[in-house]
Amino acid sequence: MNIGIVGTGYVGLITGCILSNHHFVTCCDNNREKVDKLNNKEIPIYENNLDELFNKNFGKSLFFTDDIKELIEKNDVVFISVGTPPNEDGSADMKYVYEVARSIGQNINAYKVIVDKSTVPIGTAKIVKSIIEEEMLNRKVWFEFDVVSNPEFLREGNAVADMMNPDRIVIGSESKKAIGIMKDVYSFYDKVSMVITNTESAEMIKYASNAFLATKISYINELALLCEKVGANVIDVAKGMGMDKRIGNKFLNAGCGYGGSCFPKDTRALTEIAKKNDCELLTVNAAITANQNQRKKSVEKIINVIGDLKDKTIGVLGLSFKPETDDCRESPSLYIIKELIKCGAKIKVYDPEGMEEFKWRMADYLNDIHYCRCEYEALEECDFMIVLTEWKQFKDLNFAMIKDLLREPILFDLRNMFYNDVYIKNNFKYYGIGI
Ligand code: UDX
Ligand code: UDX
Repeated sequence: MNIGIVGTGYVGLITGCILSNHHFVTCCDNNREKVDKLNNKEIPIYENNLDELFNKNFGKSLFFTDDIKELIEKNDVVFISVGTPPNEDGSADMKYVYEVARSIGQNINAYKVIVDKSTVPIGTAKIVKSIIEEEMLNRKVWFEFDVVSNPEFLREGNAVADMMNPDRIVIGSESKKAIGIMKDVYSFYDKVSMVITNTESAEMIKYASNAFLATKISYINELALLCEKVGANVIDVAKGMGMDKRIGNKFLNAGCGYGGSCFPKDTRALTEIAKKNDCELLTVNAAITANQNQRKKSVEKIINVIGDLKDKTIGVLGLSFKPETDDCRESPSLYIIKELIKCGAKIKVYDPEGMEEFKWRMADYLNDIHYCRCEYEALEECDFMIVLTEWKQFKDLNFAMIKDLLREPILFDLRNMFYNDVYIKNNFKYYGIGI
């Protein structure tokens, strides 16, 4: 099949690379610089196993362009995967999706399936449909088309594996023809369950899943705070809870809060949608508040142990919102490091992939943060250390050496990644979350 993808962000690019194993895929982006880079085989994001896939298919079944007109004309299935960033009030900013819909209406030349891949408010598929119809009427032409909602559930850092082995494929459409075509698009999946439903339900499944997972994390984070007060250990509590198949052991890791491009944005967008429809999602609202609180409590924990932070130098490992990605969108590190700086601390940081992005997001704090070339440089002559993201490579660090680099061997492990490390337990003052 010939497939076009508009938007080469995380979702669009990874979807394009995977589909190009089985179809001819052209990805389009209005950012010319990005397209030029991609055409020079430079991948603009860091994502496990993506380069292998990209290099295998580039120029053979995977192409890049900034010409949206040609993309629409030449492809039978067009995915919309442009960003839907939050507005001030938390609702999703739909201008990019609508812009693409207008381009489709202005250039459509035969039957097409238009696929909403971006996370969009419930009802968007219908709006996209009406925009395309309106543009066709302006042109005084008419072509059949269908709009399908097909949300994506990939996790950054694990996106390629997630997309190769999805738990389910959700297809929202009322058109048998479009459903058949979408089944052909995904016919390479062996035995993956498909949920076929209407567009509104498909759109809701995405928000509902993300808000549920965010709520699960906030729940264990709040329990972690209580565990600390009553002498329980949240790691054992999560283990004991997770063995109940009805609960499941995933997304029960307590930490300094969730971040990223999805959970914070989608929880807020869902509560906004609820408000507009005269409903109140009390649980999701609470999950949002608890997440903000978790970051605050993490800073308070540090102050409670250390006292005045004025003129302290703090070594921080990990900045990205989760390991194995360079993405710092809504990362707890942004809030926590700002707060530590406000208390008068100097910060030294290291992250394997996230430093460049963190630096521009924290451009106002350039004088307060020293960006280092490795973990050891970041910890040298620091008063104590904090781990904010559980990168795998931190597990291999030589803590005997780190003990000598620090002024005092104090470790705030805000992701509980070293909880079982015997050397650290015996040689460091160790503070985790909920333990
Ligand atoms: C995705 C989904 O689209 C979003 O709905 C979901 O909630 C998170 O994941 P992501 O792929 O991370 O977003 O977005 P981003 O990295 O911002 O990429 C969007 C791409 O679309 C950018 O490359 C941008 O240049 C491009 N774009 C944007 C267009 O090509 N045309 C536009 O009109 C707007
Ligand atoms: C999420 C969803 O998992 C994915 O299905 C959807 O398509 C996009 O949003 P992503 O944001 O990439 O994916 O990462 P995820 O692994 O879900 O982590 C999100 C945040 O939750 C991270 O900040 C992570 O550190 C935090 N988290 C996750 C926890 O604090 N505890 C956990 O147990 C799991």
